[in-house]
Amino acid sequence: MPVILGIESSCDETSASVCVDGEIRSNVIANQTIHEAYGGVVPELASRVHQQNIIPAVQQAILNAKVSKNDIDAVAFTRGPGLLGSLLVGVSFAKAFALAQDIPLIEVNHMQAHVLAHFIGKHKPSFPFLCLTVSGGHTQIVLVKDYFDMKIIGQTQDDAAGEAMDKTSKILGLPYPGGPLIDKYARQGNPDAYKFPEPQIPGYNFSFSGLKTAILYFIRDNEAKNPDFIKENLPDICASVEKRIVTILLNKFKRAAQEYNIKDLALAGGVSANTGLREGLQQLCLQQGWNSFVPNFEYCTDNAAMIAIAGHYKFLSGEFVGQEVAPMARMPF
Ligand code: KG4
Ligand code: ZN
Repeated sequence: MPVILGIESSCDETSASVCVDGEIRSNVIANQTIHEAYGGVVPELASRVHQQNIIPAVQQAILNAKVSKNDIDAVAFTRGPGLLGSLLVGVSFAKAFALAQDIPLIEVNHMQAHVLAHFIGKHKPSFPFLCLTVSGGHTQIVLVKDYFDMKIIGQTQDDAAGEAMDKTSKILGLPYPGGPLIDKYARQGNPDAYKFPEPQIPGYNFSFSGLKTAILYFIRDNEAKNPDFIKENLPDICASVEKRIVTILLNKFKRAAQEYNIKDLALAGGVSANTGLREGLQQLCLQQGWNSFVPNFEYCTDNAAMIAIAGHYKFLSGEFVGQEVAPMARMPF
């Protein structure tokens, strides 16, 4: 009955979670609002805020889980990918905690953890399944054969889907992170109001940089004719952009599922919180007779519960690392 402490600090969320025998007992997430003023995450500021938040977040996670520090059997932490300074805070904390408590350390790949968030709760996909992992830094179609046997069959060649959301919102004058705001305005707009191009990229790879430029030119041209264009049409613009991003993602995901003959399709990462994408996948699976797996909102964006559940499965197979482990800004799997 392992008790795992999970630590996540790869970007701008400081998070700690306790998992008892595969069940998440707490998931404390300290968001950093300081970046809003800059239109994106400022790495140095992120590291400093992690440093302030990490101990209170861990204390709260232990308290909420109703366990004691001495009950913890292992500490799992995000080794990468992510911002090096941010990762360093979590990795250093995890190493010190493991040393002080004389318990093993478990390294976790952040992108694999997003996929493994599907093993929190009762509705779990069966192996092999496909996962569309869409976050602020990554866009991947992953063939998941086992907990830690995953293969990326397609990914973005430039911007990530979340980046496309965030950059669009910046063009529209909305604060960072823009994804949730695009989602909010899109609900009140007409998704067919404007047509944006669908990039023609071979295989299961993606590209979002051309779409970003198309949106930029579209806004610039319309604002030249009507300075209030954004203000008057914000819901329609957001709904149309969201629809294009969702169709780019789901068209490839559908083809991958057909070719690999997979019937369990999952979404993961921050953009999987998007209403249009969640509904789109559910509709697609209903039409095709497939099963859709959409994580709880709490486990879509960065959180330590996904690190703790990944740690749980690594604990069961005895996959530990030593004190010499260092963070990896680019961590392949
Ligand atoms: O996984 P995540 O929390 O962090 C990374 O590992 O990058 O993903 C963050 C991304 C941001 O780009 C954010 O705008 C996007 O997820 N996001 C959304 C929504 N909620 C978060 N995008 C669209 N709709 C949402 N509801
Ligand atoms: Zn993430």
